[in-house]
Amino acid sequence: MNNVTNDIFYIGVNDHDLDLFEGQYIVPNGMAYNSYAIMDEKIAVFDTVDANFTDQWLANLREVLDGRKPDYLIVQHMEPDHSANILNFLKEYPDTVVVGNNKTFGFMANFFEGLDLGDKKLEVKEGDTLDLGKHKLTFVFAPMVHWPEVMFTYDSTDKVLFSADAFGKFGALDVEEDWACEARRYYFGIVGKYGMQVQAVLKKAAALDIQTICPLHGPVLKEDLGYYLGLYNTWSSYGVESEGVFIAYTSVYGNTKKAAELLAEKLTEKGCPKVAIADLAREDMAECVEDGFRYGKLVLATTTYNADIFPFMKHFILDLTERNYQNKTIGLIENGSWAPMAAKVMKGMFEKSKNITWTDTTVSIKSAVKAENIAQIEALADELMK
Ligand SMILES: Cc1cc2nc3c(=O)[nH]c(=O)nc-3n(C[C@H](O)[C@H](O)[C@H](O)COP(=O)(O)O)c2cc1C
Repeated sequence: MNNVTNDIFYIGVNDHDLDLFEGQYIVPNGMAYNSYAIMDEKIAVFDTVDANFTDQWLANLREVLDGRKPDYLIVQHMEPDHSANILNFLKEYPDTVVVGNNKTFGFMANFFEGLDLGDKKLEVKEGDTLDLGKHKLTFVFAPMVHWPEVMFTYDSTDKVLFSADAFGKFGALDVEEDWACEARRYYFGIVGKYGMQVQAVLKKAAALDIQTICPLHGPVLKEDLGYYLGLYNTWSSYGVESEGVFIAYTSVYGNTKKAAELLAEKLTEKGCPKVAIADLAREDMAECVEDGFRYGKLVLATTTYNADIFPFMKHFILDLTERNYQNKTIGLIENGSWAPMAAKVMKGMFEKSKNITWTDTTVSIKSAVKAENIAQIEALADELMK
């Protein structure tokens, strides 16, 4: 069994059978559903795991318990990938007190019809503490990160923050991969809309002395915590993580693609620190969304399509705006064979987005890239380099 600290044990599981996480996100390296047990005078278990891993999880728990019985099941988050085994757990350990907040128990009743915890229920409020003996736990509410009932738990003895889905990532724990890429895709895919709420809980976390973060997905974070906290601060404040330009395009016959690639070439020639480019119809949309938020500058290039815009571009822009996309510079490239209007449609879709700077240059192509478009692309590249 994996020790997080002397008394805190990892009892989670890896999922390599999942096709789509939360019904939409590909997970090429699987997914981890983390769970932890604090072994003290009283024993606390943090969250259950996905419904497909009941036996493995209960076996992990049994091994750590070594014949003892858990005193508390702390439910930090009611999403089924963490809560699905509450009933199975209670069948095996009926004397355990379930710890949650007012919203947690409301959600529990909705997920598990007829569940009656009787006196085996401890409803906590923000800042409440729970004494396990050596370990003192404090509950830190994190509403909308990313469900309303979410709470973190801080163990002041080992200086561990149990952070629910925050600081989580895609990817099982038996696969080595870079943290930031899959954490960023997870963050912007799932939590991105709630930057303000993440900022609020980061402020609470700043007051705590944290040496270890135990999220419900992804690795336990022990070193260089400033790096992870810094990224979460940038992401949740819609800041610029990497200087550079992300060019997102769609193209039916290849002409808009040509313009997008020409812009990428010009930017690279002019010394742009990073140019990322993606065909929205062919690349993972969630990967494109994270790049949309990552860079300070975005160029959208699409075809006029039935007096509207190409469906993948529409999908992409909606993914950005519904996640409160803001504080960025955007340039536009449109194409149309008889009445190009993609630029107007795209711009209109950001009407409610805060603090968007539009480039003066918009590239407007009629069917194929011509000399005047090359000049526009050059001008757009110059503007983006300013
Ligand atoms: C289904 C469909 C609908 C289209 N609707 C329009 C339109 O409403 N207005 C227009 O000017 N061009 C329209 N076009 C033409 C394309 O916008 C134009 O040929 C395309 O932008 C060329 O760029 P591409 O080579 O990158 O695909 C349409 C094309 C298709 C395939």
